Amino acid sequence: MATIIGGYFTSHVPAIGGAIHRGVQQEPYWKPFFDGLPRVREWLAQAQPDIAVCFYNDHGLNFFLDKMPTFAVGAASEYRNADEGWGLPLYRPFAGHPELSWHVIEQLVSDEFDITTCQSMLVDHALSIPFELAWPDHDVRPVKLVPIAINTVQFPLPSARRCLALGQSVHRALTRWQGDEKIVVIGTGGLSHQLDGERAGFINAEYDRFCMDNLAATPEALTQDSTTEIVRLAGSQGVEILNWIAARGALGQGALRETHRNYHIPISNTAAATMVIEPA
Ligand code: DHB
Ligand code: FE
Repeated sequence: MATIIGGYFTSHVPAIGGAIHRGVQQEPYWKPFFDGLPRVREWLAQAQPDIAVCFYNDHGLNFFLDKMPTFAVGAASEYRNADEGWGLPLYRPFAGHPELSWHVIEQLVSDEFDITTCQSMLVDHALSIPFELAWPDHDVRPVKLVPIAINTVQFPLPSARRCLALGQSVHRALTRWQGDEKIVVIGTGGLSHQLDGERAGFINAEYDRFCMDNLAATPEALTQDSTTEIVRLAGSQGVEILNWIAARGALGQGALRETHRNYHIPISNTAAATMVIEPA
């Protein structure tokens, strides 16, 4: 039986990739954010996951506004990155795990989630930055990827409750997977930020703390607000917390504990956070 080692949650601001590229992680602006990562890397180096199931949102690289699946699951043997216009170097392709992807897809469909299946899929900074943060030194990444994209960019968005349920269905799939791999669940995005409009630059540290405080033990608390209310509380891009909520669902309903948290304002326009949640 597969083992879920726990969850790694992080912001995915593209400028983080630029900072890594320029090697400025220790400069005063960046250090408070990058200081949150060694603990994650130590945990991953020790737990040695074979597979990463990553909940993220695409920002217009693979899905544009004309075709926007609410939930999309990758089922490819490889996922390529491509230029998004942020000036980042291209990431080498991410190896997939199509067998586990199809197993997850079958569970989701049998649990009545009407998902989009993607046998080819580009992945953007929302996936590549968290991977680079977690495995910076690996020429070949040690994990195979099952990517799950959630629409957080164009209304109507899925409810937080639905995202938690989606994650719980993925958890059922993982616990029924016959392989003996170790699996890390990843949720990316957030925390509070708004990039455009009258509230550009909006950050809500109080709401972010509420989300982080409840994520491990009482994630239902994060599902009480409508997506419109979450946008009001977290900003129009802070609604990326939906990815964290789905990832939390994939950790299941057993006892879990928060083992790491880092929170820093701002990185670019974003309240940047990194967390690890592990089985208690
Ligand atoms: C920023 C944050 C994001 O989540 C994103 O996808 C792009 C940019 C930012 O704060 O610059
Ligand atoms: Fe984003």
